[in-house]
Amino acid sequence: MSLFDVYPLFNIAPVKAKDVFVYDQHGTEYLDLYGGHAVISIGHSHPEYVKSISEQVQNLGFYSNSIQNPLQNALASELTKQSNCEDYNLFLCNSGAEANENALKLASFHTQKKKVISFTNSFHGRTSAAVAATDNAKIVAPINAQQEVEFINIGDIISVDRALRKNDVCAVIIECIQGVGGLDENSSKFYQKLQELCHQYNSLLIVDEVQSGFGRTGDFFAFQKHGIQPDIISLAKGMGNGFPIGGILIHPKIKASYGMLGTTFGGNHLACAASLAVLKVLQDENLLQNASEISQYFMEKANDQPYLKRLKGRGLMLGLEFDFPVAELRKNLIFKHQIFTGSAKNPNLLRILPPLTVQRKHIDQFFDALKTEFKS
Ligand SMILES: Cc1ncc(COP(=O)(O)O)c(C=O)c1O
Repeated sequence: MSLFDVYPLFNIAPVKAKDVFVYDQHGTEYLDLYGGHAVISIGHSHPEYVKSISEQVQNLGFYSNSIQNPLQNALASELTKQSNCEDYNLFLCNSGAEANENALKLASFHTQKKKVISFTNSFHGRTSAAVAATDNAKIVAPINAQQEVEFINIGDIISVDRALRKNDVCAVIIECIQGVGGLDENSSKFYQKLQELCHQYNSLLIVDEVQSGFGRTGDFFAFQKHGIQPDIISLAKGMGNGFPIGGILIHPKIKASYGMLGTTFGGNHLACAASLAVLKVLQDENLLQNASEISQYFMEKANDQPYLKRLKGRGLMLGLEFDFPVAELRKNLIFKHQIFTGSAKNPNLLRILPPLTVQRKHIDQFFDALKTEFKS
C-alpha cells in the first residue's frame, strides 16, 4: 500500500528532537524555526512533558467521555488561570479544524442562524464548515461549498455591518493575526467594532487562536491585545506541543445541553496530561516573556537587513517578506544551513514559528545563514 500523495515532502526523516533541534537518522542537527507548523510550544521532548505523558499512559491512557475525568477539570482551571479568561466553559476535541467546526456548530445552535462571515486569506481547517470558512477555493470540495459563507476584506467594517444587518449570520470567525494567510493584523478599533456589531445583530464572534494561542504572540491569546471578549475561542497546536488536542472556550451566555457536542477521543487522559505539562512549563519557564524578548531581538536584527522588504507579525509568529518567491531560499536554509522555516499563502513570505524556548543564539544562527545566502 502506498501513502495517499497529498503532501509535497522534503527528503528528510527526523527520528529524534530536543528543544529547538530536530535530528535525522544520520544524526544531522536541524534548527527548528518552524515548530512543526507552530505546534511546538515548550520545545521538543521537554522532560516535564515526557514524564507527564509517560506516567499517565502507565496509569490510564484513555477512557471515553462517559465517566468523570478530573484531568479535564484541572486543565480548565489551569487554562483560566493562565489565560485570564474567567467564566468561560471548555469543550475538548482533537485538532484545530475540529475546534472551529464545533465553534461554528455551536454558534448556529445558539443563534438558530446558519450563515458565516469570514475574511480574505483566512485559514480555519479542512473539515466541513471550517474549510468553507477558509479562503482557499482549491481545498473546498463541492460538499463543503454548500455552506453559506461571505468573505470580507479584513478592516472593511462597513461590509461586515451590511452583511450582519440581514440578520441571518450565526458567526463571524477571524484570526486576529492570520497564520498561513500571511500574518496580517488589523487595528484594535476594527476588532472592537466587530464585537459590537456581533452583539448588536445576535451573531457570535469566534476568534481562531489555533495558531496564535498558548503564548505564541507573547500574550496568552493574540486577541487580548485588542481589548475584546470573544464569544468562542478556538485552540489547538501549541496546546499539546505535538500531542493532538484542541478545544473551544465558550462564553457562559451559550448554554450547553446533553449531546449538543461530543467526541470519542477529545479530552482523553493522555491529551490532558500533555496539555497540563505544556501549561506548567509555559509558567515555570516564563515562556511568554521569552517569546516577547526574543521577538524584540529578532525584529532588531531584521531591521538591519537591507535585502528584506518587510517584517510582519508579532511575538514568535513572524514573517519575512522579500520581493521574490522564497521557495528556493527555504530549500537552501534546510539543505545548506540545516534550518527549518515555514511558507505562507504569499509566495514571497518566509514564516518563523519556533518553539517558545528559542534563544538569541538561534536567531543569530538564522541571520548568519541568511547573510551567507545573500552573499552567494
Ligand atoms: C489559524 C488556524 N486555524 C485552524 C487550523 C487547522 O488546524 P488543524 O490542522 O489542527 O486541523 C490551522 C492549521 O494550520 C490554523 O493555522
